[in-house]
Amino acid sequence: MTHKSKALGIALVLFGSVALVACDKKTDETKTTKEEIKQEETPKPEAKSPLEEAREKAGAFAALPKNWAKEGQTKEQEDLGRMLYYETRMSKNHDISCNSCHMLDSYGVDNTPTSTGHKKVLGSRNSPTVYNAAGHVAQFWDGRAKDVEEQAKGPILNPVEMAMPDSDQVEKVLTSIPGYVEAFKKAFPDQENPVNYENMSIAIGAFERNLATPAKWDKFLEGDDKALSEDELKGFNLFIAKGCVACHNGALVGGSTFQKVGAVKPWPNQVDQGVFEVSKKDTDKMMFKTPSLRNVEKTGPYFHDGSVKELDKAVKMMGEYQLGQTISDDEAKLIVAWLGSLTGEVDKDYVKKPELPENGPDTPAPDPN
Ligand code: HEC
Ligand code: HEC
Repeated sequence: MTHKSKALGIALVLFGSVALVACDKKTDETKTTKEEIKQEETPKPEAKSPLEEAREKAGAFAALPKNWAKEGQTKEQEDLGRMLYYETRMSKNHDISCNSCHMLDSYGVDNTPTSTGHKKVLGSRNSPTVYNAAGHVAQFWDGRAKDVEEQAKGPILNPVEMAMPDSDQVEKVLTSIPGYVEAFKKAFPDQENPVNYENMSIAIGAFERNLATPAKWDKFLEGDDKALSEDELKGFNLFIAKGCVACHNGALVGGSTFQKVGAVKPWPNQVDQGVFEVSKKDTDKMMFKTPSLRNVEKTGPYFHDGSVKELDKAVKMMGEYQLGQTISDDEAKLIVAWLGSLTGEVDKDYVKKPELPENGPDTPAPDPN
């Protein structure tokens, strides 16, 4: 991957805007040269085609990596992580798993404004998707966990989510289930007492690090001129022209910076102040992680409070509050068309619910209180 992006970088320097194509295929190289010659021979047309314009502007983006696997991460860890992801017995009443709020067959979200946790209590923030999350600069809307491993330790002990009293209790549950003792041993073969909270988080993280969803957009970035429709190309060009790219860029089309929500006009909902809630620094007021826009047409409702249901409305609000730009209905439609090209493929076999091991004699009973 690094090799490829380096090659892409060099190509950019050499050919400027014309050569925004992946360089690992001979055919693409030939095409680049052809395109160059064609450009020299024919006089420059007045208006560029949507495709030409899009090729010129795509430099702020990159194709999705295959995964974000850590060095040394094993299949045994990923398999254990998959089981734990679906494991409701790590919740107080044995009724909630990671998959309750981040459903892997619904693009990693629950499609509700905010999620229901233990005792049906509603949380205060919208559940972001777990797909491609491992590639973010940090986890949570306010970035308070540095990576997916650290993140995984949070919800299990969160009183309005899985509501376990402490990590000891989680370890007790896992140790009481013989199938888990075995799976932890396989995943961490060099350790004497592998069933612990830390290893649980490493396994869940290992599983999540493969949740990449390559899309049509990646085919375009890799050089396929036919990957996007005319409307999708126009939508992308508008996304650039309006200035959305300032915050939503890179391989994830976001997920890489924290930004003030309401950058040019105060955001309507000021209840949740984002990073400020953690840091208490004035400069962090209303700062939120810019979400990745991968799969965004499937992950509504939108924003940290899940307050907006329709994607075209979310797009228009972004124009108004982040950029001071009016986005017309037609423009929003085109931008939404392009956003649709970011909807990727889920590896159904990888995310399929595995068989979970049976209770042992000492496995604690569910606690509805
Ligand atoms: C009751 C619902 C609920 C459960 C259960 C839950 N989550 Fe979440 N998850 C959320 C919400 C809400 C957020 C955003 C919270 C915030 O930003 O403060 C979140 C954030 C995340 C993120 C960060 C994504 C991003 O874009 O920053 C990841 C990754 C994640 N959860 C994975 C998990 C895993 C793994 C589990 C199981 C161990 C889990 N979640 C259990 C609701 C839930
Ligand atoms: C100044 C930075 C910035 C600019 C410019 C910007 N955004 Fe955003 N975008 C954000 C942040 C931060 C959020 C999270 C807002 C929140 O949750 O309250 C966001 C959220 C979104 C969402 C909702 C995603 C989700 O999962 O909830 C969409 C869609 C979106 N932006 C599209 C756009 C479009 C289209 C443009 C251009 C018209 C744009 N953005 C311009 C920073 C920006």
